[in-house]
Amino acid sequence: MISIVNFDINGCSYKLPVVYGTNYYEKAINISKLRENTGFITFDPGLKNTGITKSSISFIDGEKGELLYRGYPIEQIISKCTFIETSYLLLNGELPNTAQLKSFSENINKFNSISQEIYKILDKIPMSYHPMGILSSLTCLLPTAYTKNSIKEKDMYFNLLAKLPILAALTYRKKVGLPISYSDYEDLNYNLDYTSNLLKMFFSVPKKYYKRNTILTDALDKLLILHADHEQNCSTTTVRLLGSVHANLFSSVSAGISALWGRLHGGANQAVIEMLENILKSGGNIKKWVERAKDKKDSFRLMGFGHRIYKNFDPRARIVKKVAENVLSELGITDPILELAKELEEVVLKEPYFMEKKLYPNIDFYSGIIYQAMGIPKDMFTVMFALGRLPGWMAHWKEMRLNQEPIGRPRQIYIGYKKRNIH
Ligand code: SDX
Repeated sequence: MISIVNFDINGCSYKLPVVYGTNYYEKAINISKLRENTGFITFDPGLKNTGITKSSISFIDGEKGELLYRGYPIEQIISKCTFIETSYLLLNGELPNTAQLKSFSENINKFNSISQEIYKILDKIPMSYHPMGILSSLTCLLPTAYTKNSIKEKDMYFNLLAKLPILAALTYRKKVGLPISYSDYEDLNYNLDYTSNLLKMFFSVPKKYYKRNTILTDALDKLLILHADHEQNCSTTTVRLLGSVHANLFSSVSAGISALWGRLHGGANQAVIEMLENILKSGGNIKKWVERAKDKKDSFRLMGFGHRIYKNFDPRARIVKKVAENVLSELGITDPILELAKELEEVVLKEPYFMEKKLYPNIDFYSGIIYQAMGIPKDMFTVMFALGRLPGWMAHWKEMRLNQEPIGRPRQIYIGYKKRNIH
């Protein structure tokens, strides 16, 4: 293992230390003294080759198509844990024992309501507004809604785990015209598990017995787990950057929600279904659309394909595809969109263009099919992604703050005007 890299610039020799991760092949040149010693900075648009932190929360082996949460393979987490156990693992580093899980859930339930002020604000927001904009705005407002008994640092993680699903459910209910009266949440059934409670908040109808659907609850719990963390993706890096300037957790997560909304990031799950519906509407000619995706002159991209890190199958996409097939067959739904998605995947995976560029289906390719089967509208799909990603965002924010990392403030190469005077 090399510990130092040597290089010359204009005849001067320099040395920079090498940093290694848990896995020997994860190595980096530590350039924190580069400019001081050489006057050079590095240039890496999109940070494709740049590590911005050391983290112990999740790890992706993009070549192998592996994802670990605190060292556990995602396949084992999915088959052995619930989303709330996964949230505990990401935030605390270990899986909870029975007592720890009980107190974690009780602490979350303590904050399972929101202030009337937030209801009043939501009531004023026109239904035409995109749910991601609503969720991001209301999340940022949460702490100010509690000026009286300000939210204690130790409780803020529980607060957000409790309140984000309520904001999401209220936004959904407003969009579909269900009542969002305060009382809906007073009859919260505290011995419901987290994900059942979440679905109840979405779909319960006043004065009607809410029947828990185990198929949908299990499917949603798996989706939340699969979305829970993913190293330094754009929205998580956004949350870490805000954490580095000591922005509070709520505004940091609010910024993460806005970053996730981007159609190249979490917004892709909505874009995938819209793309598949377009293909179906235009006659289902997959070849035509695949040719468009390959055409550099055409801005069309196959949404749900490709990934910055995975140059193999996204392990999450494999699991989501299986969950989608199970949910639809158990619910007795034949969805032409799922059939089209599977056909498209088959065609693409035989296309040299996509194979050479190592473009495989990512987590967003099949997830929308499940949300749709649950009755969740397309513009709420990325809200569901945010509910899953919440524990990961918070774990990274917490890690950043505990490590007292410096303010994230990159440099640039300036290519504008030379200094000039106003005449
Ligand atoms: C998520 O980072 C994370 O971990 C994100 C995420 C998470 O859990 O947080 O995994 C969630 O955001 C998944 C990605 C969802 N986005 C999409 O499905 C949108 C479609 N995908 C692409 O836009 C793209 O693949 C990205 C944005 C996902 C990755 O972009 P990169 O790494 O910057 O790759 P690139 O744009 O440089 O593409 C490399 C080449 C290019 O061709 P060349 O210029 O080399 O000839 O591959 C081509 C691209 O044109 N390409 C595609 C393509 N994706 C890449 N061509 C057609 N269709 C595509 N989808």
